[in-house]
Amino acid sequence: GQDSTNYRSVVEEHLGSVRSNDSIGRIAGMRRHPCPWCVPLEEETMRIGVGNDHVALVYKEEISRHLREQGHEIVDYGTDSPEPTDYALWGERVAEAVASGEVERGIVICGTGEGIGIAANKVPGIRCCICSEPFSARLSRQHNDANMLAFGARVVGIEVAKMIVDEWMSAEFLGWRHQR
Ligand code: RB5
Repeated sequence: GQDSTNYRSVVEEHLGSVRSNDSIGRIAGMRRHPCPWCVPLEEETMRIGVGNDHVALVYKEEISRHLREQGHEIVDYGTDSPEPTDYALWGERVAEAVASGEVERGIVICGTGEGIGIAANKVPGIRCCICSEPFSARLSRQHNDANMLAFGARVVGIEVAKMIVDEWMSAEFLGWRHQR
């Protein structure tokens, strides 16, 4: 009725101002909108590959659950075993899946994020950022068009890890001078 029409026009107007704000770098339809009262008008979900070594099993599970709750599809490339394993193997596996288009993005986790991230970056077409805080995660999308994210289960707490993932998932590549 009248009320919902009014509400919608208020939201539309608000989103218009957010859309034009590049420094925020989020547009309507992004999953995490900066305003607590604002309901996104459309939802964007992705197919995301996840991978980890034995150190990061619990983090992989928790991050996957977090992303599924937001509607994303998760493809788990392992490991699912607590047995010590080579982190490079899992980084490469997820990177191959991203490079081939099997999944749109990849998230890899080991003790520090360093080993698994470096391994991912050896696959042509992969731009994997290794982040310990949300600001770099957001900028890795906005400026570097990162298609993979790595972090360390021994470095960041699980709630910080979720913030890193959320910033990374909701920021868009800005192109412009970063494109050339
Ligand atoms: C495993 O002990 C550890 O080396 C690995 O998880 C990671 O931190 C390597 O970069």
